[in-house]
Order: sequence, then C-alpha cells, then structure tokens
Amino acid sequence: MSFDAQLQADIAQIESALAAYLSCETGEGYDRIFEAAKYSALAGGKRLRPVILLAFCRLCGGDTHKAMPFACALEMIHTYSLIHDDLPCMDDDDLRRGRPTNHKVFGEATAILAGDGLLTRAFEVAAGAAGLPAPQVLHCIRLLGENAGMNGMIGGQVLDLASEQQHIPLDRLRLLQKLKTGCLIRAACEVGCVAAGQEDELLLAKAREYGEKLGLAFQIQDDILDIEGDASVLGKSIGKDARDEKSTFPSLLGLEECRALVKQLTGEAVGALEAFGGSVFLTELALRLVERVN
Ligand code: IPE
Ligand code: IPE
Ligand code: MG
Ligand code: MG
Ligand code: MG
Repeated sequence: MSFDAQLQADIAQIESALAAYLSCETGEGYDRIFEAAKYSALAGGKRLRPVILLAFCRLCGGDTHKAMPFACALEMIHTYSLIHDDLPCMDDDDLRRGRPTNHKVFGEATAILAGDGLLTRAFEVAAGAAGLPAPQVLHCIRLLGENAGMNGMIGGQVLDLASEQQHIPLDRLRLLQKLKTGCLIRAACEVGCVAAGQEDELLLAKAREYGEKLGLAFQIQDDILDIEGDASVLGKSIGKDARDEKSTFPSLLGLEECRALVKQLTGEAVGALEAFGGSVFLTELALRLVERVN
C-alpha cells in the first residue's frame, strides 16, 4: 500500500473508533459535555500521534485493531491538552482545527470539563483494550500516564507558561519542548511497540529516540508556522507566540537556524528506525512533516 493510502486508511479507522468511543450520550441532561468533547475531538486534526502509534505497532508485527484503544486514548489526551491550552488563562486562543475554540462555543467551564472528560475517558478506553495480555495493557496505560502527566506534557506546559516574557537558555527551552510536545509523540512510538508485544529495551529506546527527535522537530516547525504560517491553512491563529512573548526556538535561534535544525532532527529520527530494519512509512511521515503547512 502506498504511504498516502496507508495514512488515509489509518486516519479513517482512528476517526471512526474515536467517534464510537465518544458516543456515550445518556439523554439525562448532561449530554452537552459529550457534544463539547466531540466538537474538538472530531474536528479533524492531523491525527499524528495515533497514526504513529499504529505504525510502530505494525512495524513490530502487532495487530493494529488491538492497539486502537491506545491510539484513541492518546488522541483524546492530546485533544484535551489543546482545549486547555487555548483557554484564556493559558494561550487565550480563538481558533483551533479550523473552528472557534471550545471555550468560545461552550463557555470556559464546559471547556475545562470537556478536557477533563476526554482525559478521563482516555484511561477508561485504554483499560478496556481487549485481546492483549494484562501486563501489556498495564504497561501501555503507565506510559500514557507518565508522558501526559506532571513529568511529561503538563510539566512542559508549566515551563512554557513560566517562559513568557523571559529569555530562557537553550537547554531549558529544549527541556520545555521535549516535555510539552515530545512526550506525547514519544509515547505514541513506545506504546505502539508495547501493544505489539515488543519489550526489547534496545528497540524501545530506539522508538523513544525517533519520537523525541521527531517531537522536537515538530514543535520547532510549529513555532516557525506561528510566525510564517497561514491561519486559514493552519486552522489556528498565528503570531500568538510573539504576542505572548513566548520563548521559542525561532525567538532564540532565528528562522534559518531553526529550519536547518528541523532537517537535522528529522534525519536523526529516521536514523533511529534502522534498529527496526527501517520503516518506509515512518520515514516518509517524518520527511513530510518537514514540509508541512498545517
Ligand atoms: C498542536 O498539535 C500542538 C502542538 C503540540 C504543537 P498538532 O499540530 O498535532 O495539532 P492537530 O492535532 O493536528 O490539531
Ligand atoms: C501546545 O503548544 C502544546 C500542548 C498543547 C501540550 P502550543 O501552545 O505551541 O500549541 P498551539 O500552537 O497552540 O497548537
Ligand atoms: Mg501553549
Ligand atoms: Mg497554544
Ligand atoms: Mg504553537
């Protein structure tokens, strides 16, 4: 199957599973929370993290249907992080995935609860993964929790907010980006392997390395697009990092050096795949992300 056909097939399966996992209305008077969660979760988005998770599962010889609950859980966690990231007390954004942000439509309280609901549902869905040995399921759940939590994405968000109107050193910025964006992408890689029954520590380390390098390249590209992207293509507003005086790679290194760094990190990510005998799909995915416009 070609790269594009595989990508489209994966995205279609992820989106139909996500819709099914979030269709739990009760008719009991609180269904607006499901509406709010679905508004953001089913609004498109690149589905990068679940696609990577399924690709690593396939690369390790696993059954992607059995890994789907983890793929959807990760996408729910990511979507919750975006809803909260856009709140007025955080990045105060009006546009996300080409639509008004969740709090603009549903109000702040419901947006916070929709994020909480997605995060909680993620672990419920992951714990319900069927057809895999219990230790494997537990390992995947632990990885999701570690990477999404205070030593992962949340820690990164804290550093990101603390870096506003500050000039932070490059190593601090690297840590910030590694945590806030790298951790969920790294989790995609490792969970995909573990869901396939791969427990070889050397291979898991190489999967994490791919995720960390790709995650850093991805966030640098995100920062570049915040400067020179097109909001109508990007589906989110631009110029926010400068407005909030965020510390970003372009603010520290300049655009040219950032572009070179994205290419270098992408090459390093692809190099980590050699331990798996290479992967045409994950190589192509990494290369496409260098050129991405959304
Ligand atoms: C946006 O993530 C937030 C970052 C970590 C840079 P994505 O660019 O993957 O957003 P969606 O899922 O496609 O909307
Ligand atoms: C957000 O980073 C990362 C997370 C949501 C964890 P940004 O704040 O740069 O993401 P965008 O640009 O709003 O998508
Ligand atoms: Mg942010
Ligand atoms: Mg933001
Ligand atoms: Mg950004």
